[in-house]
Parts: sequence; C-alpha cells; structure tokens
Amino acid sequence: MDCCIIGTGYVGLVTGACLADMGHSVTCVDRDAAKVATLAGGEVPIYEAELETVVSRNLESGNLTFTGDIRGAVASAAFVFITVDTPSDSEGNADLTHVDEVAREIAGALDGYKVIINKSTVPVGTTKRVERIIEESMKAHHEFDVVSNPEFLREGSAVFDFMNPARIIIGSDSQKAAMRMTALYRGIDAPLLITDPASAEMIKYASNAFLATKVSYINAIAELCEAVGADVREVSLGMGYDDRIGFEFLKAGPGFGGSCFPKDCRALLNIAREKGYEFNLLQGVMAVNREQQERMVTKIERVAGGLEGARIGALGLAFKANTDDVRESPAVAIAKMLLEKGAVVTVYDPEAMENASGELAGAEFAADAYQVTRDADVLVLLTEWDEFKWLDYTRVLGLMRRPTIVDTRNCLDPAVLRKLGFTYEGVGR
Ligand code: UDX
Repeated sequence: MDCCIIGTGYVGLVTGACLADMGHSVTCVDRDAAKVATLAGGEVPIYEAELETVVSRNLESGNLTFTGDIRGAVASAAFVFITVDTPSDSEGNADLTHVDEVAREIAGALDGYKVIINKSTVPVGTTKRVERIIEESMKAHHEFDVVSNPEFLREGSAVFDFMNPARIIIGSDSQKAAMRMTALYRGIDAPLLITDPASAEMIKYASNAFLATKVSYINAIAELCEAVGADVREVSLGMGYDDRIGFEFLKAGPGFGGSCFPKDCRALLNIAREKGYEFNLLQGVMAVNREQQERMVTKIERVAGGLEGARIGALGLAFKANTDDVRESPAVAIAKMLLEKGAVVTVYDPEAMENASGELAGAEFAADAYQVTRDADVLVLLTEWDEFKWLDYTRVLGLMRRPTIVDTRNCLDPAVLRKLGFTYEGVGR
C-alpha cells in the first residue's frame, strides 16, 4: 500500500522504515533538505539499533524513498502519516504549530480519498482539529478520514517495538478508515483496539503517565527503603511477582527523563486543569521526579564531604542506556547541579557526548570511562550503559583519589566493590 510519512524524526523515520520493511511503498517527507539528502544516502542521523539496516535495506529494494516534496508525496499515497514534533510550549502544553501546518499542506495536496493518520502525541481533540483544518483549507472537495494511531515505541528498541507492539490502537469514527488501517497493519501480530479518536489520544497520555507514576512510586519507596534499611531491588522483585503489579518500570534510579514522559505528564496535567480537574496524583509524580534528582545530588554531596572543589567523575549523560538522547536527561540535570554547587565535573557517555556538549558548559568531556575516574573523589554512575558495568574496577580503584562510588542506577554489585575497597552508595539499598 502507498504510504506517505510527514516528518522524519524518531517516530516518523521508524514508522516509515518499518512499514517499508512490511512490504508497503513508503515516501518519507521532510522540509529539511539536508536531512532528506542524508537519509536518501542511507545515513541515519539518530542512534537507534537496527534502524540504519532497515533504512538501507528498503532504500535498496525501492520500498522507501525520501523527498522534500510534500504535495507529490501526499498525492500518490493512500495513507498519510503525520509524525511531526509536538514540543512543550512555555506553559507545558503540546505545541501544535507543526501539526496544523502539515494539516494545511495535506489539504492543498488532496486529490481523492485518503486516510490521514496522526501518530504525533497530541492533546485530546487533535484528530478532530486536524479534520477541521483540512476541511477548511481544501480547495476542491475530496473525501478523507483522520484517525488517531498513537505510537508506543521506546528509544533504543524502536524497530523491535514497532514490529512487536503490545497493542495497536486505532481511534476512528469511520468504519472505512478503520478497515483500511487494519489491512495496513496486517502482518503484525498484536491485539488491535479500534476505538473513538478521543479515547485513542487519551490512551497514549494515560499509558505514559502511568509508567511515569510507577517510576516515581518506586523512587519514593526507595527513599523509604534507605530510611528503614530495606533494599528496593528486593522490594521491586517481591512486588513484581504479583501479576497485577508486574516487574516493569519498578527500577529505582535518578528519575525518569527523555522526550516523552516529562512532556506528556506536563501536557496531561494541563489537559486536566483546562477541564477543571486538578490532577494531584500526577503532580505528585512529577514532584517526586524533581526531588529524586536533588536527592542524588545531596547523596553525592554527603559522600564527597561537600561539593565545592570536589572532583566528580560522571558516567553517562543519555536519559537511559542505548540512546544518544539527552532531552530532559536526569544525568545532565544532575551534572549541571553538581557544577552549580562548585564541583569539578568530568563526564563521559559512549553516545551522547555531542548532544550534551551544549548543555554542560564548565564540564570536562573525557575520552573514555577510565579518564572520568582519574583523580576523582566520587564516581557517579548516571546512565546504565553495559560498558560501565564491566569496567575493570581494580584499575578504577587505582585511578581515583578517593574510591567512592554513587550508583544512581543500582547496576553495580555493592558486595564486590566493597570487597575491592570502595565506599558504595546505591539508591534505596
Ligand atoms: C517511553 C515509553 O516507554 C514509550 O512507550 C513511549 O512511546 C515513549 O516514552 P522512552 O522515552 O524511550 O519511551 O523511555 P523508557 O524506556 O520508557 O524510559 C523512560 C524513563 O524512565 C527513562 O529515563 C528511564 O531511565 C526511566 N525508568 C524506566 C526508570 O527510571 N525506571 C524504570 O524502571 C523504567
């Protein structure tokens, strides 16, 4: 089937590449000519496992093309995906400027019935809004349907998640559009829920906010564990065996970050407020998340015996492992706070150094993990990259000024490190 994807950001590029891999004929559109040229050459500008392979394979087969010509791409497609970004505006609402612009451009290019699919995370009501904009901007009348089809893929495993989703959500009032969407996704083995657009839009926010709630909940429990002498990892394990709770998203750490959770929590809070509901629970989730970063800094300050002039080595900048994304990264936020408090901070991340460089003026960027540990008073593990778990800690011991480790991801073995001679602090244990 002929698909057009507008916006080659994370979601757009993964959606385009994967639909092409499923055998569809896909044209990805972006107005950034340089990006189109890079992608057409088979180069993927983001760090994402498997994506480059899938893009190259489908460029070669001819199933995937990139262009700057939105009008031509829309005209030849039966399915038009809107996958442009919806950043937070100054008040925390999702900014729909790009979605609106694209809707107007689609209207100008319509030449027959098409299904227009919104995959960007947008406030409840946006499917209807896009429908209205297209209706108003169309020059000649053409039949079309707008559906909501939220995406749940995680950075770092985006291709796998697209091909193996927990569910496919289609929000549509049109049976015709829903049937076509079902056909488009034939081949993916997942429960398919056809619902109304508002519910589909809400499912995305409610899911992300719920997962964020789990993270903040376990971080709050971690704080209590420290106070009562319990180990939060044991507590998560014991809770997770209950199917109603599950093991996922119960890892205590420095708080959640990334391009979705913080933004979507803020947006949902605003949606609620606009409708007259004060979402106190979600407010608490966000407050715990902010405090969690501060708690990590307090912990580092305590073990360092003050931060002024202390040499801190920070391992990790990405908001989680296996991505180069530093958007709202707790690692970057913590490094910034350490710098503000007068610490001398050296940082290293296997993939995210370039993205973080603009945000951490004053930090020293090391060439590798061992360089971070050299002469450090405290080594802080901020992102759970595998390579940090397998460092030669005997060598690290010899390089540090004072062998103290704060492991904000609980991914090192305290017993082993203590035996080597380190002072070890985790989170909630
Ligand atoms: C998330 C959702 O999982 C995905 O479905 C949605 O489409 C986009 O947002 P992503 O932003 O890639 O995906 O990150 P995710 O793996 O969900 O982690 C979010 C944050 O929570 C990270 O900062 C992570 O470190 C943190 N986290 C996650 C924890 O601190 N503990 C956990 O147990 C799980």
